[in-house]
Amino acid sequence: MSIDQGTTSSRAILFDHRGRPAGSEQVEHEQIFPRPGWVEHNALEIWRNVRRVTASALASIDVKPVDIRACGITNQRETTVVWDRRTGVPVYNAIVWQDTRTAELCERLAGDAGPDRYRARTGLPLSTYFAGPKLVWLLENVSGVRARAEAGDLCFGTMDSWLAWNMTGGVNGGEHITDVTNASRTMLMDLRTLDWDAEICADFGIPMSMLPKIHSSSEVYAPLRAKGSLPGVPLAGILGDQQAATFGQACLSPGQAKNTYGTGNFLLLNTGNEPVFSDHGLLTTVCYQIGEAPACYALEGSIAVTGSLIQWLRDNLGLISSASEVEEIAASVDDNGGAYIVPAFSGLFAPRWRPDARGVVVGLTRFINRGHLARAALEASAFQTREVIEAMEADSGVTLTTLKVDGGMVVNDLLMQFQADLLGVPVIRPVVSETTALGAAYAAGLAVGYWSSADISDNWAEDKRWLPQMPDDRRALLYSEWNRAVEHSLDLA
Ligand code: G3P
Repeated sequence: MSIDQGTTSSRAILFDHRGRPAGSEQVEHEQIFPRPGWVEHNALEIWRNVRRVTASALASIDVKPVDIRACGITNQRETTVVWDRRTGVPVYNAIVWQDTRTAELCERLAGDAGPDRYRARTGLPLSTYFAGPKLVWLLENVSGVRARAEAGDLCFGTMDSWLAWNMTGGVNGGEHITDVTNASRTMLMDLRTLDWDAEICADFGIPMSMLPKIHSSSEVYAPLRAKGSLPGVPLAGILGDQQAATFGQACLSPGQAKNTYGTGNFLLLNTGNEPVFSDHGLLTTVCYQIGEAPACYALEGSIAVTGSLIQWLRDNLGLISSASEVEEIAASVDDNGGAYIVPAFSGLFAPRWRPDARGVVVGLTRFINRGHLARAALEASAFQTREVIEAMEADSGVTLTTLKVDGGMVVNDLLMQFQADLLGVPVIRPVVSETTALGAAYAAGLAVGYWSSADISDNWAEDKRWLPQMPDDRRALLYSEWNRAVEHSLDLA
């Protein structure tokens, strides 16, 4: 059983031994936007949803908890929640990874050393994206939180910790834990020691008693204890969702990479047992650690807005009535008609890291219709992906020969064809595109001996491949027009 707690929804998926989904359920949660740039989730709503989808997934194929060998958790990373360990009540809504309220705070924390102050230790630039500054914001801005934290009453966690604590008993002795991949997104963990960095915590003013214990990504942590969440089943895998997708795509050797098209896009390249540091705006992160084996690291290109741009067209503009309609509308025109959308809703992440960038639509003429805008929205995912791949190639010296893809948007043929065209390399989708949930299931299954690493590679199978068809000069022209559009997004800063 895999619990995939994502940015827009929570789901539970059961997998069989061949890694095929056997039963699943999914439910969306509210997106709370209290002010421009702020994004929050209700952590209690998410915990309720997780219990609901777990029960429904089981019921969907009529299995009992006793039939489940192990449970894994995978989650939207960086989203930050602080709760009272005696009552289980969060002190504030969860602050979501997309939230930019900590922009000034990050500048303050960077001081004269600049945004790379902690990069050598954490692999990350100081950015609104990561959990540590969000925790500092909670300590500094929510009444009573600092005093309660210093008294030892509060727990900090990313969504994996919040769920693991609740699922293993909550106020009745729940385990306050996280794994190395999630911890590597806080800016508080030293990438080499895989432990909290006391100096950074002191610089940030974070009481270390709030922090969860860091474990590997695959080991038996504890049995589940909460009602409605598979009592007795071992919780045995925890991975941030992008690392889980890398695992589920069987990118288990250095040089293997995947790109997930979700709320945002996240390209991860397995770099093996040594962290590789980026000169081109990528992150260094833990890819996974299996039990007591040495950790495996990755270079990551994080793009904040791709799929959520399609949601925005649906929810904020009413341009489409469902996300799946976007392909049909985009296919009603031959090309983007000269229109480009740069969706810098959370500023721009990799490779630019500009929290002050703002979204723009450029190239509008009276000719442009909703088909062109739908196409421009899809193309924005592909253009941003090309940017991070160029950074990845420059950092690693490795030239991409194929791109493995997964995530919700890879059912979109038009986008996948455009991606292959824009990169000039084949794009490959696996049979099981739920690689995020699958990766967490694999981590849990490895820990209890249900699978071996060889099974993970053997289970991976290709479903579809898109080959590049666009002439080189056209590819170059489109990319240069995209880059001009990005300049406009930065001009608004
Ligand atoms: O770092 C953010 C990422 O983990 C969110 O993933 O799939 O919820 O968009 P997703």
